[in-house]
Amino acid sequence: MDDNSDLRDMIRTIPDHPKPGILFRDISTLMLDGGAFSATIDRLADALEGDPPDLIAGIEARGFVFASALAYRLGCGVLMLRKRGKLPGSTISIEYALEYGTDMLEMHDDACGPGANLVLVDDLIATGGTALAAVELLRQRGARVNQALFVIDLPDLGGAERLREKDVAPHALIA
Ligand code: PRP
Ligand code: HPA
Repeated sequence: MDDNSDLRDMIRTIPDHPKPGILFRDISTLMLDGGAFSATIDRLADALEGDPPDLIAGIEARGFVFASALAYRLGCGVLMLRKRGKLPGSTISIEYALEYGTDMLEMHDDACGPGANLVLVDDLIATGGTALAAVELLRQRGARVNQALFVIDLPDLGGAERLREKDVAPHALIA
C-alpha cells in the first residue's frame, strides 16, 4: 500500500459513535474536499488489477459515493447493493452481522448476468461482514467477483483477511 498520508489526514475520528467504545473513522471530511476526493477516486482506479470490470458493485450508502465516481472514471455501470426494502423490482437478499448490529443487503435479481466481471466498492471494511455478504449475493447470480476496493481498512477487525479466504483480493488506500 502507498502511504496515502495526505488522504489519511482528511479522515477524522469520532469516539463513541454509534456506540460507546467504537472509534468511528469519519470519511465525510475527505469527501468535502474536492482535491482529496478526486485523488481518492484516481488511486482506487490505479489499485484495480487487470481490465476494467463490466460493472462496479457499490454498497449503500457511503459506498455509492465512491462506486459511482469510480464507475464514471472507468466507463462502466453501477450495480446497487441496497439495504432492506429499497429496491422496487424482484430482489435477492442476504442478512449479515455488522460490528454494531445486523442488516440486510439486496440486489435486483436481473442486475447482472452469469459470468459478469464485477468489482466491489465500499468506503470502509471493518469486520468484513458487509463485503462478504455482498460477494455472496453477487456470486449467487453467477457474477465473478475477485477484487474489492476500499478507501479505509480497519485491519484489527479482520475483514480484509476474511475476503482473501473467499478468493477476493482486497485493495485499501488507508489502513
Ligand atoms: C459501514 C461501511 C461498510 C460497513 C463496514 O456501513 O460503510 O459498508 O459498515 O463494516 P463491516 O466490514 O464490519 O461489515 P454502514 O452499515 O454503517 O452503512 P452506511 O454506509 O449506510 O452508513
Ligand atoms: N467508520 C465508518 N464506518 C464504519 C466504521 C467506522 O469506524 N466501522 C464500521 N463501519
